[in-house]
Amino acid sequence: MTRPVARISHLKDFVGQEVTVQGWLYNKRSKGKLQFLQIRDGSGTVQAVVVKSEVSEETWEAADRLSQEASCLVSGVVRADERAQGGYELTATAVVVVQVPLSEYPISPKEHGVDFLMNHRHLWIRSRRQHAILRIRSTIEAAMHGFFEQREFVRFDTPILTPAACEGTTTLFETDYFDDKAYLAQSGQLYLEAGAMAFGNVYCFGPTFRAEKSKTRRHLMEFWMVEAEMAYVELADSIQLQEDFVVHVVKQVLAKNAADLAVLERDTSKLEATIRGGFPRITYDEAVERLRKAGSDIQWGEDFGNDDEDILANQFETPFFVTHYPTAIKAFYMQPDPNRPEVALCADMLAPEGYGEIIGGSQRIADYDLFTQRMREHDLSEEAYGWYLDLRRYGSVPHSGFGLGIERTIRWVCGLEHIRECIPFPRLLTRIYP
Ligand code: 4AD
Ligand code: MG
Repeated sequence: MTRPVARISHLKDFVGQEVTVQGWLYNKRSKGKLQFLQIRDGSGTVQAVVVKSEVSEETWEAADRLSQEASCLVSGVVRADERAQGGYELTATAVVVVQVPLSEYPISPKEHGVDFLMNHRHLWIRSRRQHAILRIRSTIEAAMHGFFEQREFVRFDTPILTPAACEGTTTLFETDYFDDKAYLAQSGQLYLEAGAMAFGNVYCFGPTFRAEKSKTRRHLMEFWMVEAEMAYVELADSIQLQEDFVVHVVKQVLAKNAADLAVLERDTSKLEATIRGGFPRITYDEAVERLRKAGSDIQWGEDFGNDDEDILANQFETPFFVTHYPTAIKAFYMQPDPNRPEVALCADMLAPEGYGEIIGGSQRIADYDLFTQRMREHDLSEEAYGWYLDLRRYGSVPHSGFGLGIERTIRWVCGLEHIRECIPFPRLLTRIYP
């Protein structure tokens, strides 16, 4: 008799049937002539009950030999059981050991220090909490692609090895490029602008790199960014698209990852508020006023520190935008406001509950003369940026875009203390292992 292999997440389709689950032992309890095996297979966990009098001696012994994270094939009849986690249980008919761990599995249910867990990240991702976070990550990424596909954006892959900086020269990772130097991309934006002039609406999705000498709960050296760029679009429409984008993504997580959010004990009330849209928009001027009222000593013209972002982000229920930052503290490519050139046509989206900036975006300078003046002010060479200048030479149009940090977004959606849990293998100031 052959039994179908079933994913644990699909057990509901097999009630009353005998199936085989291919997985690993998550946990085990024994009570006399009964063994309760918690099996995980990546899609979920299920309890298999092994009754000594109902299985072969071989199966009973196999179950007995299983230690934490032993790989095993467990066959059994699927029973619906309201009390069971996930709603189903297996009455075991056969247990086959694939491998018993060579030594005791290092991560036990007891508390471990962060450093220990980070050193065992390759195993830590099997545990329930990490698993929940990374499943939410997967939903978020798929939702992002879905959003842009629905809106007929062209996916446009930008290079990782680049000859010049996009977001300032202080955070560049440098590498040899034969007889030359190259830098790991900080952003795909400049290339995406070329894509926008070719295709209208484009987006890219990939890893970006910043040698940030900061050890905070929101900085990674390697993080993933989704960026969009749109021709003939000005700041206000770009902001609206960003709101729609984040609403779409959070909706998908609420719809698909309720169980994962429960594992994380995430209070979802602010996420529920988020999907109703209507994100507030405040100007930088207004933000500074709010900060000073709240006790910050920030002066007009200064960038927000992490503390400032925290204060602001605690004043709102949903994500919100801060617009029109001082031109002097923003990137060289941002369009100054024609009515007030000391501020730029830009917007950051900040997440509520103290999570801070998740999106940075702006309208770009389209005018050739203004752009060349900007290049001189920022000491940018024609040699490195000549191709980018061409975009202002041949059919330049108003255009806008933005970049959303995937891990920052995950941190907020999951309600996590630290960004290191938001990516399978985080690259931190003091860590590149494993
Ligand atoms: O605000 P940033 O620097 O904007 C850009 O790179 C633009 N070129 C994007 C564009 O307009 N196409 O970065 C965008 C986002 C931030 O809002 C933040 O979410 C994330 O990237 N980010 C980081 N995430 C984790 N670790 C870091 N070190 C990050 N630096 C930026
Ligand atoms: Mg930014």
